[in-house]
Amino acid sequence: MSSEEIYLSYHGVLLPKETHSLESLRFAQDFTFKDDDVVAVVYPKSGTVWMQEILPLVLNGGDLTPIHTVPNWDRVPWLEEKRLEVVVDKLASPRPMVSHLPYHLMPPSFLTSKAKVIYVMRNPRDVMVSSYFFHQMAGFLPDPGTFDEFMNSFLEGKVMFGKWTDHVKSWKHTELGDRIMYITYEEMVQDLPAALRRMSDFLGRDLSEETIQKITEHCSFKTMKDNVMSNFSLVPKVYLDNDKSPFLRKGVIGDWKNHFSSEQLAKFTSVIDKDLEKESFTLPWSLD
Ligand code: A3P
Repeated sequence: MSSEEIYLSYHGVLLPKETHSLESLRFAQDFTFKDDDVVAVVYPKSGTVWMQEILPLVLNGGDLTPIHTVPNWDRVPWLEEKRLEVVVDKLASPRPMVSHLPYHLMPPSFLTSKAKVIYVMRNPRDVMVSSYFFHQMAGFLPDPGTFDEFMNSFLEGKVMFGKWTDHVKSWKHTELGDRIMYITYEEMVQDLPAALRRMSDFLGRDLSEETIQKITEHCSFKTMKDNVMSNFSLVPKVYLDNDKSPFLRKGVIGDWKNHFSSEQLAKFTSVIDKDLEKESFTLPWSLD
């Protein structure tokens, strides 16, 4: 399939047609945010599905019903995807959602509401590796080619949701004040209870230590991998084929070390550094 058949270009950003349409994007633009809505914004392959597990539990005080009865894509829908229109009326407030959109493509009502955002960032080297394997299992995305070829596409932003650096820049330059909280995938892997406590405080929840431990257990990589509502085993293999590469693949920090050559590392680092050279923020990981 050609790139035109796979993607639609939305303000210059590529989105897979399988899950997005002009109608779904219009629906997102016209969407009326409520003040108590919560959106986890995540560049693809940085922990979106993890947040679809975490958010309902933090918001509802650890009731496992949603993660055991509703598939992740309907439980915490993507703002920009086709399913939102289908499930929106079933979402109970406070409504958890996810989005891969860059900040400037968020709908007007989001900007004027008091809805809160948790922005999850992951080391781009691991994002790229995760995305490379995801392209092998996702029937609605192009073949990634060789690792080297995919690295070029990733660095040029010729992948879904565009350049990683553009996404991060857009969300670092918001005027959302205390409506936005930043967290890294790495913090979540290293100390999930601490990450959950931060999210709980940010969302005005007063979760007991027992509840934090319960959520930690049910949002672990292993538990999620066994949860049919979260591991995409319910999706036909023609769309997502877990036999080619599982969606919940490794769930670790630093898998890039198993895949990057020293030349690839030098190139990757220099392109990301250059893209961010004029920025006032620093990345939470060393890219040396
Ligand atoms: P890997 O491919 O490196 O394993 P997204 O949901 O944004 O597409 O991100 C997918 C990545 O998040 C995958 O990374 C997946 O394994 C990881 N992930 C999902 N749930 C996780 C969890 N509970 N713990 C650690 N990593 C998790």
